[in-house]
Amino acid sequence: MAHEILFNPIEMGSQTFKNRIVMAPLTRLRAIEPGDVPSIWAAEYYAQRSGAGLIITEATQVSFQAKGYAGAPGLHTQDQKVAWKVITDAVHAKGGKIVVQLWHTGLVAHKSVQPDSQPPISASDVKVKNRTSLRDSDGQAIRVDVTPPRPATVQEIEQVIKDFAHATELAREAGFDGVEIHGAHGYLLHQFWAQHTNQRSDEYGGSRDNRARLMLAVIDACVQAWDAHHIGIRISPWGSFNGVDASYETEDNLWLIDQINQRGLMYLHISEPDWAGGKPYTDEFRQQIRDTFNHTIIAAGGYSVDKAERNIKAGYIDAVAFGRDYIATPDLAERIAADIPFNEQHPESFYGGGSAGYTDYPLMD
Ligand code: PHB
Repeated sequence: MAHEILFNPIEMGSQTFKNRIVMAPLTRLRAIEPGDVPSIWAAEYYAQRSGAGLIITEATQVSFQAKGYAGAPGLHTQDQKVAWKVITDAVHAKGGKIVVQLWHTGLVAHKSVQPDSQPPISASDVKVKNRTSLRDSDGQAIRVDVTPPRPATVQEIEQVIKDFAHATELAREAGFDGVEIHGAHGYLLHQFWAQHTNQRSDEYGGSRDNRARLMLAVIDACVQAWDAHHIGIRISPWGSFNGVDASYETEDNLWLIDQINQRGLMYLHISEPDWAGGKPYTDEFRQQIRDTFNHTIIAAGGYSVDKAERNIKAGYIDAVAFGRDYIATPDLAERIAADIPFNEQHPESFYGGGSAGYTDYPLMD
């Protein structure tokens, strides 16, 4: 077998995963509206990718208010839960494991997908230059400017925490193997953590402790709703995404990682900024993360198989998530084992549409 190190089983939380190849969360915008229920093709799409040691679903709303993109699914209604159960059953039937990535998009939203067409919430009313997507009459994604946000009230913040816990309960009932909290890429939890977008003067803004308060409260509420062994989190230190400038101190990021470490989670998922044109990590920073975090580390961000092997061998990370490669190559893990090239990607069908460019990428012979 080629690239054997990627096929050593790995422990995360209380479970064992068959290899170290992870399918990264990938927004595909094919959910049914209204209702934000996963599409009828999603079970086949995810099941085709069950060769991964772990599948992380596309980012999934914890409430209707959490929605920023037309066509992203949710996990807060019974209909959504039933649809996700079909998907987890299909993945498990093929020997795979799957966690759901839970998000609140905050300011990366357009008012037309918000309840009562209200402006979206964020930490503050800081406007960023960024886009989200809506749907045209053919179901294709069209890019639009985000709606300027309004500051969340404390009551709304408390509701966001409850919504993450509720979605975690539904994830467990839907047969997921865990949840991943989306704390990265300039979405709501990151908007509170980043100084750029958090101008609050209450207990959720100002000091580092205050800016981390929402993210840590969400972790604690999800742990309470399930247990630490089924909760992972994704963060993106050094990365500025979605117009949220978060390229600041290493020391603050290591402090946050230490806070996460103390909670004994299933894993820490680090999105390195390379894939979005950010500043590449140094090995020194990777080592600092490793020294701060005692549990499983998954890394992502424009990783090649060679880079994955190198960084696992060096001990910086334990597993690697592949994103766009997993869109185009459903049997990615199997092909890595057999040393067979991947399929060509078709970016024009990444977002929106139907089964074309979703479930029809070919398997190897
Ligand atoms: C995207 O839709 O491009 C997207 C969504 C979630 C992410 C990153 C990118 O975390």
